[in-house]
Amino acid sequence: MEQVLSAATREKIRALMAQYPVARSAIMGAFWLAQEQLGYLPRQAIREVAEIIGVTEEQALGVATFYTMYYLKPVGKYRIHLCATLPCALRGAGKLYDLLVQRLGIHAGETTPDGLFSLFKAECLGSCATAPMAMINDDYWENLDQERLTKILDALAAGRGASGARETSRVKRLSAFSPAQASASRSFSCFQGRPSSLACIGLAFKAER
Ligand code: FES
Repeated sequence: MEQVLSAATREKIRALMAQYPVARSAIMGAFWLAQEQLGYLPRQAIREVAEIIGVTEEQALGVATFYTMYYLKPVGKYRIHLCATLPCALRGAGKLYDLLVQRLGIHAGETTPDGLFSLFKAECLGSCATAPMAMINDDYWENLDQERLTKILDALAAGRGASGARETSRVKRLSAFSPAQASASRSFSCFQGRPSSLACIGLAFKAER
């Protein structure tokens, strides 16, 4: 099968591998680089990353299919990951999801026919104190309510980008990090959020008051 990873992406992956004592540790960043080039991770890209990194295709698949930040099929220009875990749910994430379904005409896991929006339900993204929140592409949008979310969608649909709707805090701009840092940060958010859900719920109640 024809190769899908460009020479530039391969070069970046090799440079990333050089930053780790064990090359296979670079696999998450390598997938991120492949996805940046292709927009998602087709099976052939996973094969090629596995070959470059030096792991089996099955091992690479195990990583690519575990993390929700990797897309295994084409997605929209704007990927909306709405947190649906308890602290965000207690602060109105359900209403935000209903708004998204009504406005976009799609459900979680689907993409609008014009290819503009993809919608996902996310597990805790580590910003429970500013619940409810969503990650849109690489940006966190926090303390959301229906009005703010509508303005964000309006701005994105009008091609003004997220900056045209910026009324919420923007605490993490992952694209400003290196691929390895971005991967680590995402993993940390995930790791940070899940086991500390009781603390997160406490913070959400505190924020409510
Ligand atoms: S529960 Fe939504 S960010 Fe933690």
